[in-house]
Order: sequence, then structure tokens, then C-alpha cells
Amino acid sequence: MFNAKVGLIGFGTIGGGVADIIIKKREFWQNTLGIDVELKMIVDTDITSDRGVDVTGVILSDNYKDLIADEEISTIVELVGGYGFAKDFVVEALKAGKNIVTANKALIATYGTELYAAAKEGNADLFYDAAVAGGIPIVKAVKEALQANTITDMYGIINGTCNYVLTEMEINGLTFDAAIKQAQELGFAELDPTFDIEGVDTGHKIAILASLASWSNVKADSFLVEGISKITAEDIGYAKELGYKIKLLAIYRDLGDDKIEVRVHPTMIPLNSTLAVIDGEFNAVKVTGDSVEELLFKGKGAGRFPTASAVVSDVLDIVKNEEFGAKRRLLPEFESDHVTKTMIEQKDFVSEYYLRFVTADKIGVLSSITSILGENGVSIKSIIQKKVDENAETAHFVILTHKTTEGTVQSSMKAFNSLSFLKGETQLIRVEEM
Ligand code: HSE
Repeated sequence: MFNAKVGLIGFGTIGGGVADIIIKKREFWQNTLGIDVELKMIVDTDITSDRGVDVTGVILSDNYKDLIADEEISTIVELVGGYGFAKDFVVEALKAGKNIVTANKALIATYGTELYAAAKEGNADLFYDAAVAGGIPIVKAVKEALQANTITDMYGIINGTCNYVLTEMEINGLTFDAAIKQAQELGFAELDPTFDIEGVDTGHKIAILASLASWSNVKADSFLVEGISKITAEDIGYAKELGYKIKLLAIYRDLGDDKIEVRVHPTMIPLNSTLAVIDGEFNAVKVTGDSVEELLFKGKGAGRFPTASAVVSDVLDIVKNEEFGAKRRLLPEFESDHVTKTMIEQKDFVSEYYLRFVTADKIGVLSSITSILGENGVSIKSIIQKKVDENAETAHFVILTHKTTEGTVQSSMKAFNSLSFLKGETQLIRVEEM
């Protein structure tokens, strides 16, 4: 029977899940797939704490060099995280000919090109299905199952922390800060959730999916990324009144003529749309391909076993390839010269917009705002006015626009700065009719 020896670096929550599955399913895979997948070595700085996994017979080491030096180990699972040590380790291991499986989206999205060069040099494979949306097999789907298609669009809710926070604000009326605290207590948010809340994590994930969908090297710093920290309870309330929900959406569109659009921002989507029902910590990606038409993937984007599910499936794919002597069977999507489509500029995005103004409640306010929009060519769809404070004579004006370019709205936003009656920052949320 074909035997493959696997190593693991990073014996934390997900690493424990990966070890558990590989050890417990070994015999089952021998009987079903006819392959023997052996977890030979685990490396971590802490090799003494109990992770609730029986690792009898597995070599435990605190020296990463042991993994690379072991000639029998052909595949290493990297679950250290971050870009520092993890990057150096993965590059060294790939160059040494070790196949790598990782869940590290920051690493793939930021250093994909470098890692692919190292993989090419070492004639090794780099698999990362768990890097996007944890247990949802969306990388595999776009890369393999949908390769006959031109992916025309993808809409993703791919950060569980943000989705949990927005859902709690919407359903239970929590403030932003209270929702974050609750998410942390329940393990849905990191102690420092900045990367999640500010959209960086979502940006990394859609950069990976956009690269796969467009057959081009899409860099995470090359498109608009906005997080949810400025979303208020009032915005959530107005959204509902207008028939929308606010979600942190990652958007990819193929616009034809070799042009694509990628962006991440809080987005109002219709209450009855497919993604509006994806609540709490769940992730979902809606993908449309020119042949397959619309698909919806929903599931857990984080957590021990959902993430380990994707990691271990990658390990099995590699082992099955190895059995038949196949390597580097998939496209080098992050090679630096691998660009077939280009990204349009932010000013050219077309969307509808929600604008919320906090103003003094006096004559001429609304006409000044609408004049600016008119001068910039922005057409108004609807307006709501609410008195928010009788004594201070403060009002909210909420304006929904018709479809327009981002450039016209950004010019209007600049012009609003000159209005003396504005009492706070003007809120801008993009609206997608999906
Ligand atoms: N921190 C991510 C999330 C999970 O909240 O969805 C790992 O990418």
C-alpha cells in the first residue's frame, strides 16, 4: 500500500483538529482509498501541553529544521499563521521539495508570487483550500470544479467575525462594541480583531479567489478594502426600513473586455436576497459561472474541525497525486507574469449608494445637499428625514441614489465638507441589488 509521511507545524486549535482527523481516519483510508497517510512528526514551540489528541507514536519536536531534514516526510501542514516565521519556513520547505498545505490566507495573498517561485524551484506543491472560508471548499471549487467556466461574479460573506457582529447589531440591537465583546467571549473574534473588523482578512481571501477566477495575479493591496467599524445601529435600522441588510461583502466581477472589478466594503443587500439569510458566524460565497450558472456555498469559515476538514482534504489530494507520481498538476495562479485581466479603477465602479447626513434641522439644508449631488451628476432614488434630537434640532437625512459611478459620489463627498450645517461625518454605504 502506498505510504505517505506527513509533518505538521503549529499544534494549536486547528493543528490539533488536523492531527486528530489524520490519526483517527488512517485505517479507514487504508481500507477505502488504499493509501496509508501517516502523521510522522509534529513541531511546535510547546510540545508538552495536552491538546486532547492521542499522538502516541508521533515524533514531537520543537525544532522546525527536524521537519525539513526528515527525508521521509514529503508533505508538511503549516498552521503557524502570520507572515514572519511562517513565510521563511514555507519558502525553505518548498525549496527543499516538501509539499505544503496551509490555511494561511495572509501568507498566500501577500507572498503568493514568492511562494510559487519557491514551489517551482523545489518541484513541490502548495495547497491552501482552508485559506478561504475555512471548511467551505471554495478554493477547490473555483480552481478545479469550475475550471470550464468563466466566473462572471462572486459575492462573499467570508469573515465570520464581521458577520457575527453585524448580525448581533441587527437582530439583538447590540452596539458595535458590545457585539465585538460578545464575539470574543464566544470565540468568534480574536483578542485583537482589527484585521477582521477592518476588512483586511476579507481582502486577503477575495484576492485569492479573484486570482483563481481571473487567471491573473490579483494583489490584496490593489483594490478598495473597507471594514465595518463605522457602521452604526442607526445605519442598520435605516437599512431595515429601506428593505436591506448590511453585510461585509467581498465582490468580484468580470466586466468583459478583460476587465475585472474587486472590492470589499459594508454593503446593503436586499432582505430577500440569497446572502441576506447568512447570519451569525457563518460564511457564504455565491458564484456565477457562464456555463454552470449560479451556485451558493455556505458553511463554517473558521473553527477547529471545519478548517481541519479543508486542510486534511488537501493532504489527501497531495498523497493521491504522489501515489501516481503527479506533481504541480494545477496552474501557477500566483506567478508574477500570470495576468490575463486588469482591474478597473475605484472611481469607475458602478453602484447605488446610501448616504446618511447628520445636520442642523433648518431651512435650505436638504436643497444644499441635493444641489451638490445634482452638480456631480448623481440621481436620487429616495430620501428619508428623521428628527434625532428635538432639543439640539438635529436631523438625519438618508438618501438612496440611483446607480452611479464611485467617482461622482466621492466628488460629492468632498463637496459636502464645505456645508457648515453638517454636525457629523457623512456615512456612505454601497448598495447592491444582487
Ligand atoms: N478570522 C476569520 C473570521 C477566520 O473571522 O472569519 C479565519 O480566517
